[in-house]
Amino acid sequence: MKPYRILFGASEVYPLIKTGGLADVAGALPHALKKLGHDVHIVLPAYPDVLARLKHPPVLRVEMHVQSHVIGIRQTTLPGTRVPVWLIECPELYGRAGNPYHDQYGEPWHDNALRFAVFSQVITAMAMNRCGLDWQPEIVHCNDWQTGLVPALLAQEAQRPATVFTIHNLAYQGVFDRGTFELLQLDEYFWHYERLEYHNYFSFLKGGLIYADRINTVSPTYAREIQTTEFGYGLQGVLQHRADRLSGIINGIDPEVWNPGTDSYLPHKYNRQHLPGKALNKQALQQQFQLTQDTQTLLLGLVSRLAQQKGIDMLLTILPDLMQRPVQLAIVGSGDKTYEQDLRDAASLYPGKIGVHIGYAEALAHLIEAGADVFLMPSRFEPCGLNQMYSQRYGTLPIVTPVGGLFDSVTDTTAETIAQGTASGFVMPEISETALLQTIDRAITAYAEQESWKALMRSAMKLDHSWAHSAQEYAQLYAQALLDNPPAPGAA
Ligand code: ADP
Ligand code: GLC
Repeated sequence: MKPYRILFGASEVYPLIKTGGLADVAGALPHALKKLGHDVHIVLPAYPDVLARLKHPPVLRVEMHVQSHVIGIRQTTLPGTRVPVWLIECPELYGRAGNPYHDQYGEPWHDNALRFAVFSQVITAMAMNRCGLDWQPEIVHCNDWQTGLVPALLAQEAQRPATVFTIHNLAYQGVFDRGTFELLQLDEYFWHYERLEYHNYFSFLKGGLIYADRINTVSPTYAREIQTTEFGYGLQGVLQHRADRLSGIINGIDPEVWNPGTDSYLPHKYNRQHLPGKALNKQALQQQFQLTQDTQTLLLGLVSRLAQQKGIDMLLTILPDLMQRPVQLAIVGSGDKTYEQDLRDAASLYPGKIGVHIGYAEALAHLIEAGADVFLMPSRFEPCGLNQMYSQRYGTLPIVTPVGGLFDSVTDTTAETIAQGTASGFVMPEISETALLQTIDRAITAYAEQESWKALMRSAMKLDHSWAHSAQEYAQLYAQALLDNPPAPGAA
């Protein structure tokens, strides 16, 4: 396939800054595309945490003005790769430590609309080769609402690159009021329900959904679900309207970051042929979370943003029943303050059985993947989900709801799938507390048969979730986007 010049815009990119799966994808996909021979540049705001993580200060390439802001474009490479990264520097907009989207109390930064409108305007200028960087992409690949204005702004240009917009989560839409629209000095033309206007407000996300040449989301099942009232968050009509441009491509995982054979966060390495290290990691995990040292008890792990999406409420509801069973629970998460407190309370109510760490903790996330027997993902919706795939790679069987990417990546354990050697976790029959408890019971029963459990672990561990395949699907999507946006006659 022809190599493309691709500008990849995202508001978080692993390992420079991460709050969730978007960062993992925005780090790994460009790297996989680069390996396929494409010329990819990532563009990301220069948050202080990003600058702090770089070994060498990034070089200032150019300065420009956007609205009343002076913007510096600095260049570096994504650590561990040769992918160039352009960092958008503007201290008054991005110079805040911590979470890129909200303050220490979980409140969105008051000027998020401005922060990501300016980000989108800089990406648009880069796309049109107007920043003095002497490089123009053929494809601009935008991700989530923070870059949603880019396809809309580019649609106003006569000769422009093709645009692809990836929905990682439809629940976050970047919706702001009319006053903000005016403040951003967006073209009045956009204030229309078939464009950016959304029930008297306006939506950054709609910019991507309406104007991108191709829209995709991160699993085939979620691509179908978001066209329904149940999962469409009010945008199902818009998505149905663009169904011929909408597809699903399942995320991959970075097999170098998530490899139990080499993972530097693990006290004990292991692989499919040599499993004893996993049991030793379980002991380490029990110690770390002050759980009773016991090899026989099924250890359930959970690493998550604590948000309604993740079904934390269902887990909290079943806890009294669950604690009657021979299980332990190790949890790492942060987010909703009520869930954080409820989980802390649960840990003090059931010492030795529940261990909780509130906060973002990369090392603990890896230890849970390696040390737990089962990984819980009772999500109410899940565009893709990465942890179920990390879990499979680590021989930790995921328990998942039958939605989105969870449905697409986990094969339920049944007599038939065991015989075929395809079982790779436990899929709940529906989204409910009863189904969650019953499915955990199924796992408890299966775990009692140690030899067949090991066979299950191995069949999950052999799955290939690496990015190579999905990156090729993205390259095909770019080809389609270019066909939808043919260059003007005579254009280079
Ligand atoms: P989402 O993007 O909706 O949060 P994903 O499953 O796609 O869900 O990705 C979540 C990523 O963030 C995973 O890599 C997971 O390990 C990580 N993660 C989430 N919460 C934490 C936390 N508190 N500490 C460390 N890693 C976390
Ligand atoms: C979102 C989704 C998650 C997905 C991730 C990366 O945050 O909630 O399901 O895996 O993006 O695409």
